[in-house]
Amino acid sequence: MNIKVSVPGKIILSGEHAVVYGKPALAVAVDKYLTVVIKSCRNKKELINAGKEDPVLVKEAIKIVKETLEDNKVFDNGWELTITSKIPVGVGMGSSAAVSVGVITALMALASGDSRINDKKINDLAYKVEKKQHGNPSGIDNSTVTFGGVIWYRKEFDFLKTLWRLPFKIAASLDNFHLVNTGKPVETTGEMVSLVSAKLKRLNDSQNLLDKIEQETKKITVGLREVKEDLLKKAIKDNQRLLEKLGVVGIFAKTIVREIEQSGGVAKISGAGGIKDKSGILLVYHHDQEVIKKIARKYKLDDFKTRFGVEGIRVENLDL
Ligand code: MEV
Repeated sequence: MNIKVSVPGKIILSGEHAVVYGKPALAVAVDKYLTVVIKSCRNKKELINAGKEDPVLVKEAIKIVKETLEDNKVFDNGWELTITSKIPVGVGMGSSAAVSVGVITALMALASGDSRINDKKINDLAYKVEKKQHGNPSGIDNSTVTFGGVIWYRKEFDFLKTLWRLPFKIAASLDNFHLVNTGKPVETTGEMVSLVSAKLKRLNDSQNLLDKIEQETKKITVGLREVKEDLLKKAIKDNQRLLEKLGVVGIFAKTIVREIEQSGGVAKISGAGGIKDKSGILLVYHHDQEVIKKIARKYKLDDFKTRFGVEGIRVENLDL
């Protein structure tokens, strides 16, 4: 059997880090895809072409599937797995979640001989891989890339996570979002999550800070739903200040955010961020794409637009 799996990337619009502490977060699946092709071969070998993705993560995802399935005989026949991706690696756009989800989906489909998938099961397994990778994930990354759409997510406990696919699209008049890649942080997501945990222990008003982030997440959601641009813009800007207070934004990213603000836009980091050097992807809201392009060029950075709220995992049986 030959199978192709496509998994979208993700952008967190609001609530990163706070979501680890039971606060809600708002995220969208975006149209940058990771593809996993799996082919069965008769040579009894296991061949893995991970491309630019972390081979350790790929192996972890394979291990989890093998541990889960009762019958692993299908894998004895030999198979080849190849990953290609347009999701920038390690900048907060869900590349590692897409690897886990893509590899798990491909192997489950190969094992069952059926391209119809159980996305809930896949999501649960991908969460286990994320836990091995990051220690204390909320599960928002794997959930967003699995189910797709515009997601309102909250983790109450490890065993109770609520996820709503919001029943609205982002209005055309609010289609002024851009992404600017400030570069891959030296810190991993797990390290940033630990850093925040230590910071929250030191702060006197840590609960207040998390509550404020929750309020901004709600304002951004209402701003999008009711097409209130001023509310949306102010909430993105205030959210960025709260993330700075949380200690997840480096000086370089801060400089670019301030420049975007001076030019009439707003921006925030999206995802875990980074403090020592680069801070990953910036979510930007600005009416003039040329202004953003100019700022990005000045700092030799990539800027691009993506579609927000695309579908989650897609599986194709290449034999049909
Ligand atoms: C990373 O994309 C989002 C964080 O909130 C971590 C998590 O939720 O697992 C920083």
